[in-house]
Amino acid sequence: MVSDFPSKNFFNITGIMMNKRFYIETYGCQMNFADSEVVNSILLDGGMLPVQSAEEADVIFVNTCSIRENAETRVWNRLKEFRSLKKEKKQLTVGVLGCMAERIKDQIIDQEQLVDIVVGPDAYRDIPNLLAEVEDGRKAVNVLLSLEETYADISPVRTSGNGVTAFVSIMRGCDNMCAFCVVPFTRGRERSRPLESILREIRELSDQGYREVTLLGQNVNSYKYEEIDFTHLMDKASKVDPEMRFRFSSPHPKDFPEPLLHLIAERPNLCNYIHIPAQAGSSSMLERMRRPYTREQYLTLIDRIREIIPGVSLSTDIIAGFCDETEEEHRDTMTLMEIVEYDLAYMFAYSERERTLAHRKYEDNVPESVKKSRLTEIIQQQMVIQEKNNRKEIGQRHLVLVEGTSKKSDEQLSGRTDTNKVVVFDKLDFKKGDFVEVEIVDCTSATLIAKPISKRTIAEYYSEAVFA
Ligand code: SAH
Ligand code: SF4
Ligand code: F3S
Repeated sequence: MVSDFPSKNFFNITGIMMNKRFYIETYGCQMNFADSEVVNSILLDGGMLPVQSAEEADVIFVNTCSIRENAETRVWNRLKEFRSLKKEKKQLTVGVLGCMAERIKDQIIDQEQLVDIVVGPDAYRDIPNLLAEVEDGRKAVNVLLSLEETYADISPVRTSGNGVTAFVSIMRGCDNMCAFCVVPFTRGRERSRPLESILREIRELSDQGYREVTLLGQNVNSYKYEEIDFTHLMDKASKVDPEMRFRFSSPHPKDFPEPLLHLIAERPNLCNYIHIPAQAGSSSMLERMRRPYTREQYLTLIDRIREIIPGVSLSTDIIAGFCDETEEEHRDTMTLMEIVEYDLAYMFAYSERERTLAHRKYEDNVPESVKKSRLTEIIQQQMVIQEKNNRKEIGQRHLVLVEGTSKKSDEQLSGRTDTNKVVVFDKLDFKKGDFVEVEIVDCTSATLIAKPISKRTIAEYYSEAVFA
């Protein structure tokens, strides 16, 4: 529900929106996917109808990402495809939402016949007004960033997805200003969503049959709402429904709260999985990146996590070829990854972004070919580690939440372990949304293959595991 729906020209706007067909295409991070669900809710509230393809739509929205050059290139190419649709269908409206809207609004709007509406991440409530402006023959833009907007009163509408796992946004923006990153400029200042509104959304999801929630923010461990910090929030969230699992993304290594580790270790429905982005493995590089921790501090944190949560699974983000990166610094990244043995890593070549500290102060001086070969080396090593880690899983038991049928076969189901590993197994009588105890029998570097044992509850499975 949108509580402060603009009342001034309410009838005018609802008239314009009523029964118009819309299509949203989303790029970028999970936050963007969560935001598209907020936009969904606003459009449905105005009487618009969702459709599954751009060709069927009267209004197309592209929710965009600016994190790397290639993310933006993909969107430009897509907008050019929509331009040909516009030529065939004169009334078609195309809108750009999200981080690119914020970053390059002028460039987008100046491109003749490409885009009619440009809306930044904090201005989605204004979409009905902007649609009305377009109807009047104007181009409509709102890229104002806000210090307060959290869309707390809007219940996101999940039109795509598996009906079992959902993302819940707990904060917006980022104040960290890592030297390479454009997010603080596209998403604005950090602000936390009120506790009650988060818990209400989780309750609604539980009532609708969702079994897993990932709490989202650019830097979740700085969540602060009145007296409630992130650990406290996880405590409250996990009590809403003990038969629902919880994850979170992403924490920052600089101030990871130790009480949260104890809570994860004790609470059966808090997943034994932490995404903890390192970015690089050498202290000199981390300093240039403005990541306020050293290699040693990061490794100490990893040890602490493993001590407190035995069997925890870890993943990370890594950037290859940041400004002035030496061969030795690259080696440090390789050895850090070798030591930690992550179960999963998101690995990128550095891409310079305007306005960031790196753009203003440093030179993007690692040649493209060197960035690529370092990245390849990092990826290859990681694949070997992943396969080795997965081999160790053979013979182990896990509780898997079934997310749907496997992509490869209708006779098989696919789901995830508590440790976030993808598992496939024979369907038998099991179905989407079930928690199934399985035994791992084989693997690849990306998937575990299992033999299903029986349907269980979280409470049953972990009480037996603890007392076994
Ligand atoms: N807030 C999250 C990260 C969001 S961006 C966090 O700090 O964990 C996701 C990842 O994109 C980052 O962790 C980083 O590894 C990568 N990234 C960000 N800016 C980049 C750039 N300019 N070039 C390449 N990768 C980048
Ligand atoms: Fe970007 Fe750093 Fe903020 Fe993550 S913590 S969004 S990498 S500035
Ligand atoms: Fe991309 Fe914006 Fe997310 S830049 S990674 S969509 S915060």
